[in-house]
Amino acid sequence: MKPIKIGVLGAGSFSCAFIPLFQAHPFTSEVYLAESMPDRLAFAATKFKISKTFSTLEDLLKSDVDAVAIFTQRWSHAPHAVAAMLAGKHVYSAVPAAISLAELEQLIQAVKETGVTYMMGETSFYQPTTIYCRKRFLAGEMGRFVYAEGEYCHDMEHGFYGPYQGSNGDAWTSYASFPPMHYPTHSCGMVLSITGARMTRVSCLGFKDNHKDGIFDRALSHWDNDFSNETALYRTSDGGMARISVKARRFPSRIWARPPV
Ligand SMILES: NC(=O)c1ccc[n+]([C@@H]2O[C@H](COP(=O)([O-])OP(=O)(O)OC[C@H]3O[C@@H](n4cnc5c(N)ncnc54)[C@H](O)[C@@H]3O)[C@@H](O)[C@H]2O)c1
Repeated sequence: MKPIKIGVLGAGSFSCAFIPLFQAHPFTSEVYLAESMPDRLAFAATKFKISKTFSTLEDLLKSDVDAVAIFTQRWSHAPHAVAAMLAGKHVYSAVPAAISLAELEQLIQAVKETGVTYMMGETSFYQPTTIYCRKRFLAGEMGRFVYAEGEYCHDMEHGFYGPYQGSNGDAWTSYASFPPMHYPTHSCGMVLSITGARMTRVSCLGFKDNHKDGIFDRALSHWDNDFSNETALYRTSDGGMARISVKARRFPSRIWARPPV
């Protein structure tokens, strides 16, 4: 295979974990970097010795990159991926792929129109536990899929204020109320990447948050969302069921400690 040039979009902490991996890969000839925040761009370009840098996606797409790896804010992936594909670039996208059915349709349409390769990079696919279960399931050792539970906790107080603050300016509090079920990929991925099925029906409930940080407040939320935790029951295409939870708060915890008895 001819080595390819990869253009990384976004220089937050997650892309900085991937850049050295792309650089070390034998099928990569060069890594370019695009980032709109000058300090982040300069820091990552120096750290990873990247000489071709851009401050916009548009400029990156005008370059000779073969593929674009998208590590922008979690609600912006689909528009960026569609723009890259329409410019003839292959796409690797951090999760989630999209945050609405309309965006998913646009992604599918762009893949059909352009014929380029699109990959959503769900990391739970590569967890040792997932790999182990997938091997045993595919070998027929687990029988027919009946029911699974999956849960993922992006606890706000365990390092999640920082990423929202770092890349969303003064408006970060309104973006931090991102609806948990707009990002169900880690907890669903551990089930679907084992069985190979799809979710076909869903019923979901949310917990109305009243934490003192005031983030999940509909009056302030860019997403009109006051649910910090959501739990869904899904029907799967192989006739099974899965209960999936995505949480921005962990209960009980030291944060929500009960008063001493
Ligand atoms: N396990 C996982 O799969 C996993 C883990 C962590 C993060 N993520 C995902 O990876 C993504 C990146 O995470 P992060 O914490 O590094 O994000 P971040 O918000 O810190 O960084 C995103 C960067 O993209 C830049 N950007 C946005 N639009 C741009 C544009 N049009 N042109 C140039 N630059 C642009 C922003 O300025 C920002 O610096 C998120 O979507 C997150 O959900 C996935």
